[in-house]
Amino acid sequence: MSTTPPQEPSDTQSPTEDESEALHEVEQTEVEQTEVEQTEEEPSKLIVMQSSVANHAFAFFDKSKPMESALVDMLGELSPDNPRYQIRSFLYKLFSFLGNPLPPTWPLVEPSVFASYYHSLRDQISGLCVWIEGKKDIEFDKQMMPRFLGETVLYLMRLEYERPTSFNDVTDETLDLLAQRPQAIIDYDQLYCTADSTQRRADRMIQEFDAPDSKVLFVGDDDLVSVVLAPRFSGEVHMVDLDDRLLDFIGEKSPNVHRHKADFVFDGVDAALYQQYDAVALDPPWGYYRLWCFLEKAMFCLKDNRHARIYMSFCPLHLENQQRKMHRFQKRLTKLGFTFDSIETAFNLYSLSLDDQPEVPGRLDALLPDVESTLLDFIRHVPYVHSQLYVLRRLPYFQPNPVQKWFFKWWNRAK
Ligand SMILES: C[S@@+](CC[C@H](N)C(=O)[O-])C[C@H]1O[C@@H](n2cnc3c(N)ncnc32)[C@H](O)[C@@H]1O
Repeated sequence: MSTTPPQEPSDTQSPTEDESEALHEVEQTEVEQTEVEQTEEEPSKLIVMQSSVANHAFAFFDKSKPMESALVDMLGELSPDNPRYQIRSFLYKLFSFLGNPLPPTWPLVEPSVFASYYHSLRDQISGLCVWIEGKKDIEFDKQMMPRFLGETVLYLMRLEYERPTSFNDVTDETLDLLAQRPQAIIDYDQLYCTADSTQRRADRMIQEFDAPDSKVLFVGDDDLVSVVLAPRFSGEVHMVDLDDRLLDFIGEKSPNVHRHKADFVFDGVDAALYQQYDAVALDPPWGYYRLWCFLEKAMFCLKDNRHARIYMSFCPLHLENQQRKMHRFQKRLTKLGFTFDSIETAFNLYSLSLDDQPEVPGRLDALLPDVESTLLDFIRHVPYVHSQLYVLRRLPYFQPNPVQKWFFKWWNRAK
């Protein structure tokens, strides 16, 4: 990746491609100076929003302290495993880098203050993406990555503003259950979500389905939601995966999880799982064909009633950012008798840290276009990427075509 800084373009303007190192140094110095000025500003002049969002962090914020220590204080009572530490610190650095430092009270600011920061960042990211997407010599996958990173940063900003930090808390019990998990491997498309995301998924299952006669299934479970859920769930917890290391680990950590082995791409799931589950969760690979290999197995296993739900964690860009992909997805969904129940943005986070997932930063670098942009160089270091939670349910009164129904069942069961 280049470290030379072009001025980031607007939506309508292409950037100059040969910005000099000297400019970068000047900008950096300006940014550092602005940061110092910002820390010396009288914070009591800043508007602090006293609203529902203020239930988090505000109690720990001492307005008389400079920004860095205010940041630490605001997050002082959080566990170091809460992703907000890194997210907030990243956002502070990003806006300082852009010459428009966030106020020390961030994220406790008036909606109009949020809007001005958000819009300025959105416009710069949008300009960067339009510029890159206009370069015909860059492959589509590489064009999409800056947009994914940019949208992630914008979602993280919204997460900070809209959700209390407790949204990303994780308990010691969850961390203990996830300790010594097998290393994620590329061969199985594994990329672990953060521990708080795993816990949030488990909490959602409890909230919606906790009952002695409930049965829930995880179609692929490198995120180990079954392990975290099982000790707290009064119903049955099942998981199915191809990776023997995971099946063994889950068996050791939570022996009451029912484990099944299957290959969703080259085979199907055991016929005994057909329409057995009240809820089925999956975090499929981020490619259209494999997404459907996984999703059809989830549909196969879901009970045929109005209350049953599928919880699919998925990267929105892999549906929306490709021509007609979302259209095709919704058409096929309807044809199979399903519809969206809700979409929850940035429900899941995935760490990009070398410590957490040693193979991931290298994979990410390989997917980035080789362009000169300091903004891209900066957002490439976003600490987490995101995915949405798509909740799906069966369409009431859906009458499947009998031949299609037979074929669907035959296709998705193990042969
Ligand atoms: C596809 S991975 C992706 C999850 C990840 N959190 C992400 O966002 O990229 C989810 C699970 O599917 C499993 N898996 C991968 N390929 C599979 C296959 N062909 N059949 C069954 N399970 C598979 C992996 O072992 C993993 O547990």
